[in-house]
Amino acid sequence: MSENRSVITLAHLTKEKIEYLLQMAAEFEKHPNRKILDGKVVATLFFEPSTRTRLSFETAANRLGARVIGFADPKITSGTKGESLKDTIKMVSNYADVIVMRHYLEGAARYASEVTSIPIINAGDGSNQHPSQTMLDLYSIYKTQKTLYNLNIHLVGDLKYGRTVHSLLMAMRHFNPTFHFIAPKELEMPTEYKMYCHNNNIKFKEYKEFSEDTISNADILYMTRVQKERFTDLMEYERVKDLYILNNSMLGKAKENLKILHPLPRINEIAADVDDNPHAYYFQQAQNGLYARQALICDVLNITLQDIINDKTILS
Ligand code: CP
Repeated sequence: MSENRSVITLAHLTKEKIEYLLQMAAEFEKHPNRKILDGKVVATLFFEPSTRTRLSFETAANRLGARVIGFADPKITSGTKGESLKDTIKMVSNYADVIVMRHYLEGAARYASEVTSIPIINAGDGSNQHPSQTMLDLYSIYKTQKTLYNLNIHLVGDLKYGRTVHSLLMAMRHFNPTFHFIAPKELEMPTEYKMYCHNNNIKFKEYKEFSEDTISNADILYMTRVQKERFTDLMEYERVKDLYILNNSMLGKAKENLKILHPLPRINEIAADVDDNPHAYYFQQAQNGLYARQALICDVLNITLQDIINDKTILS
């Protein structure tokens, strides 16, 4: 987090800070409805489409008693008249206590954090990072595995453009994971993230084949969507979009504790027959986003875990 408490990436967080935020999320899961943010205003600025991230941030704020302003579509803002991102952020900073922003440009969230003194929470910047998704992913992993340590985590699909896998990889550096990167050549994990693994002693293996055997030792199978909107060559998208599809018949050798995660939305990379499989966890994962985002909003507003434990504003 930068000086003004913005959340741009989780890469710099200590293990203790990650565990602290997970404890906060657990408190909110016990009691999500409170008035602890009474009088606060949360702005959600979404320059790119979203269902889960925007709605769960807005639900998180609403359930804590804050009010929400913002937009889901930049076409209705003065950006269409030529207003710069800098001016937009400075204006919204006059009205809100925290800004949650999704933007299609890598680095936009960091830039926003440099032009305002109120905290920015990065809700996804291009192919770069998606830290609030990572908080809910970590919370989901912890809840289902009872630990974050020593796990085999298989990342499948669009590892090139997938900001969720980039964020997760960096945040897991404290917990001795072994990553298994399963992607076609066109979508393999970018070199900078493989270098990050080397520099942080994170073990990883790479595969082209996605099969029952490849995933038989997985604790977490993290599926991703091939992101059509990031391709400059649509022929390339057509070549790779249907390569990796998970179906029930591939789970015969799965470990008992395996959980299947997906940041969602999915297209066809998880067949519908998997939804009722006990290993499927992606809908609960999205629900965990509410608690993880409540924790992030409170943390950037200087509300501590102890404040939350002592909170007398609980409604239910
Ligand atoms: N996981 C995620 O970022 O979903 P949305 O694009 O719907 O917000």
